[in-house]
Amino acid sequence: MTSKPTVLVTRKLPHAVEARLERDFVAHLNPDDHSMLPDEMLAKAEGCGGLLITPADKFTPAVIAALPRSVRVLATFSVGHDHIDLQAAKARGLTVTNTPDVLTDATADLAMLLILGAARGAYWGERMIREGRWTSWSPTAPLGFDVSGKTLGIIGMGRIGQALARRARGFDMPVHYFNRRQLPPGHEFGARYHSELADMLPLCDFLSINCASTPETRGMVNAGMIRLLPDGAIIVNSARGDIVDDDDLIAALKSGKLAAAGLDVFRNEPNIDSRFRELDNVFLLPHLGSATPNTRTAMGMRAVDNLEAFFQTGRPRDRLV
Ligand code: DGY
Repeated sequence: MTSKPTVLVTRKLPHAVEARLERDFVAHLNPDDHSMLPDEMLAKAEGCGGLLITPADKFTPAVIAALPRSVRVLATFSVGHDHIDLQAAKARGLTVTNTPDVLTDATADLAMLLILGAARGAYWGERMIREGRWTSWSPTAPLGFDVSGKTLGIIGMGRIGQALARRARGFDMPVHYFNRRQLPPGHEFGARYHSELADMLPLCDFLSINCASTPETRGMVNAGMIRLLPDGAIIVNSARGDIVDDDDLIAALKSGKLAAAGLDVFRNEPNIDSRFRELDNVFLLPHLGSATPNTRTAMGMRAVDNLEAFFQTGRPRDRLV
């Protein structure tokens, strides 16, 4: 790079990532990590060539249209990109990049935690202890549900779905998957492909949502779909909250159609549907899928690699548009 490009970084990032940004860019950082409303972000973007953004920043067509002309690239610190209107970005001539691969293992680990936590009562068990309600060990209560040997269905067999399938094999779980297309055998990890979701659902003791949020998948997990699951099935979601219809999920959790759910992501997070807080059979986490220091540092480095490649060659590795 001949002169250092100027970038706005919308949230505080791991130290090593910020140190690199300060070394190689004119970087406007966010040391107190406050969420920027669009007006503040747009004002601070003035004169910047690139923005390093996060899933908490919503790039609607209106926000994209209001970006200063200096902005040429959006590098999101996430693999998911449903917070960015890619069509509007493309129409405006922006390059957009994401951070695939580096968060696969951490997110698949967390999907497994959701399965175990939801099934085995991690939430209500912990609460019993904290609230001093654990008075004696009893053979019959409270009880959770088995995981080992139970059948897992995965919606979305991308990198994270595949990594979850690998983990589930360690629990002797037969795995089925629904995906836009069948994967080559080397990527299936013994899982059985279904081209129709309705064919897979009746087989699933556990259903894990691992697809991207797109116009096709939004609201896809609804009452009609839940009805096809066996009674007492468990749903876990480590992908995006809006893939699930909250009303239908809550109704199924209340009626006992679903035994439990494990949720790391929510529609309109962090302002989640407050009815989830009242249910004992949901295990809730605050979007922790990629939340380890190593993973978050790797995500930041990947986002910076993309910015660097964009400004040096115009060809970032993880270009979405
Ligand atoms: C992503 O990268 O899309 C994740 O949801 C962040 O953990």
